[in-house]
Amino acid sequence: MLKNLSHLGILASGSGSNMEAIAHAIGNQAINAQIRVVIYNNPDAKVKERAKRLGIPAILVNHRDYPTREDLDRAIIQTLNAYQVDLVIMAGWMRVVTQVLIDAFSDRILNIHPSLLPSFRGTHAIDQALNYGVKIAGCTVHIVSLEVDSGKILEQAAVPILANDTVTSLQQRIQVQEHLIYPKAIANFLDQVS
Ligand code: GAR
Repeated sequence: MLKNLSHLGILASGSGSNMEAIAHAIGNQAINAQIRVVIYNNPDAKVKERAKRLGIPAILVNHRDYPTREDLDRAIIQTLNAYQVDLVIMAGWMRVVTQVLIDAFSDRILNIHPSLLPSFRGTHAIDQALNYGVKIAGCTVHIVSLEVDSGKILEQAAVPILANDTVTSLQQRIQVQEHLIYPKAIANFLDQVS
């Protein structure tokens, strides 16, 4: 069943820098895969322009058009299937997924989160780390399960917090690491399941 896990579908809500890092890794043959489609939920998300520049189809599936999370997930599944996606990559996807999406792509949804999970799940992970006063932040790639930001961890990188860090400065250094570990995690994941 997991033989052809090389058609990626990216879910993104914002800038899309992780999507672009993954696209570059594919271009450099570090990942043996193809991004079939980018699905975004915010009409003005920058990821749309990045996808366009990279020649990747970008489809708006606006969560505001769906009464429930399950309805949104059904619309996402329809689009993923239309593009023959077999591995879903959440790259800055800011919607909580339901059992509907998880059942449709069982153990085939990956996510990146800007903390060293299991610390600081949910939104504003970087604010949480700074407010808590931890000295080491980071990022995590994991398999998506129903509970938010849980699921088997595939890859992590640590990022030391500096005395004068702000959310922006720390986020920038975390993203440098994200762009390294997400392509690596995807490549390893594909190696293991193929
Ligand atoms: C990334 O830093 C990712 O870790 C975070 O959103 C950012 C998206 O950046 N995701 C979450 O917070 C998920 N809970 P990008 O759009 O430039 O890839």
